[in-house]
Amino acid sequence: MEFRIKTGELARQKTPCILIGIFERRKLSAPAEILDLASGGRLSELLKKGDMDGQAGSTLMLYDLPGLAAERVLLVGCGKHKEFGRDNYRKALGAAVAALQQTHSGSALCALHDLHPEGLDLYSAVREAVTTAADKVYRYTQTKKDDKQAPKTPLKQLTLWVDEKEAQPTAELAIRHGTAIAAGIALSKELANLPGNICTPSYLADKARELGGRFDRLEVEILEEADMEALKMGALLSVSRGSRQPAKLILMHYRGTDAASKPVVLVGKGLTFDTGGISIKPAADMDEMKFDMCGGAGVFGAVLAACELGLPINLVGVVPASENMPDGDANKPGDIVTSMSGQTIEILNTDAEGRLILCDALSYSERFDPEVVIDLATLTGACVIALGKHASGLFTTDERLAEEIVNAGQAAGDRAWRMPLWDEYQQQLDSNFADMANVGGREAGAVTAACFLARYTKAYRWAHLDIAGTAYLSGKDKGATGRPVALLTQLLLQRSGEVAPAG
Ligand code: BES
Ligand code: MN
Ligand code: ZN
Repeated sequence: MEFRIKTGELARQKTPCILIGIFERRKLSAPAEILDLASGGRLSELLKKGDMDGQAGSTLMLYDLPGLAAERVLLVGCGKHKEFGRDNYRKALGAAVAALQQTHSGSALCALHDLHPEGLDLYSAVREAVTTAADKVYRYTQTKKDDKQAPKTPLKQLTLWVDEKEAQPTAELAIRHGTAIAAGIALSKELANLPGNICTPSYLADKARELGGRFDRLEVEILEEADMEALKMGALLSVSRGSRQPAKLILMHYRGTDAASKPVVLVGKGLTFDTGGISIKPAADMDEMKFDMCGGAGVFGAVLAACELGLPINLVGVVPASENMPDGDANKPGDIVTSMSGQTIEILNTDAEGRLILCDALSYSERFDPEVVIDLATLTGACVIALGKHASGLFTTDERLAEEIVNAGQAAGDRAWRMPLWDEYQQQLDSNFADMANVGGREAGAVTAACFLARYTKAYRWAHLDIAGTAYLSGKDKGATGRPVALLTQLLLQRSGEVAPAG
């Protein structure tokens, strides 16, 4: 999908459709006032008939309004004027795109970002329009060719109308950033939505190589099981031993500035299917464990966004990829493995496999002499219970990094909420037979998982994002969300000096 900026008189714009906001109760937004005036009051006349009162997410299509060059006008409900923030703005944009896709418009002019949603400046409002619209038109088609709900005339182009010429450079920048973020989100969603029998560790490795071929600044390196053996990655390899699919450690080196500049390292859990292993999961909803590689998919998305934007930073994406299956050589409860760090782990529950593949990837990351390391993982069901689908769980003892991540998430509309990572929780991982157990009991499951990872990240500044609740949706909207690509890209944009630090 393509995005453009246009200034100039709204009534004179030649377009298949103009999108304008209406607040409750039938209150015209500023662009709506302009069109009402141009149409000789026709707009407010039609509104008086009462078919649309401005409820957030409602729409009404109008045809042949006099005095306008546009073929259609789509009235888009934005809710109460006083409550117009990011939430209703997204709802309005989403509903507008959905309504457009029911028509043969194909392209449209949007004047919704001009309504100053609370907390969003023009840059953020335009960027949000881009990412929301792109997200809405995304369709998974790889294994579902004739989708009956697919629009006959997909929306190909959205032009964002800016009333002041001086605002144009800001809007252009927002489109550039938004387009890259949207590309990262789309890649992340596509990889995550693929089933476990297609999206295997080898498939992810191939996709990484493909990405490496597309960008000069990106070098991709794949470590095979023999390489991991040589590195003594006993924890990671113990998980993949239970599966016929070989594990891969995917390394994506993006070099956007001189080699002396320390890289940001993103480590993503790439568990392409989690059966639980011998501690096998119940059958209901187990299909959703194809999404257990969403952390890895998020790393792919953030790396792609950085490449598209040519950001002047160094970035390393690390994706340990494996299945967790109950094959003959799988981990058994009570098994003890030795991680790359030399620390031994008693595997009391084979379903706590994410931390086993991550701990070796985190130890390996020391060699990049990182500025910071952020890992992202669908790590615990406990985090879903704690925070639901609205916020990713953030764990770190680094105050500055916590603030940076929380603020980036807030700015990007992809929020994280800080959770404790106190030493008091560490004792739950005590084991009589190894340096640590891989589970810490029922209490505070998301915290003890983070505590486990903390034991492997002492050499650098580190934060952990538990995205089990945010990375995908269940139920009728089942599918990946592309989170937290927007948060991560925001952080990279800030570190590149492309946007002012949020906060
Ligand atoms: N991939 C799961 C976590 C998960 C659960 C993500 C539900 C999304 C939705 C992870 O590997 C896992 O199984 N974790 C266990 C840990 C437990 C055994 C300590 C869990 O959360 O139940
Ligand atoms: Mn598991
Ligand atoms: Zn898992």
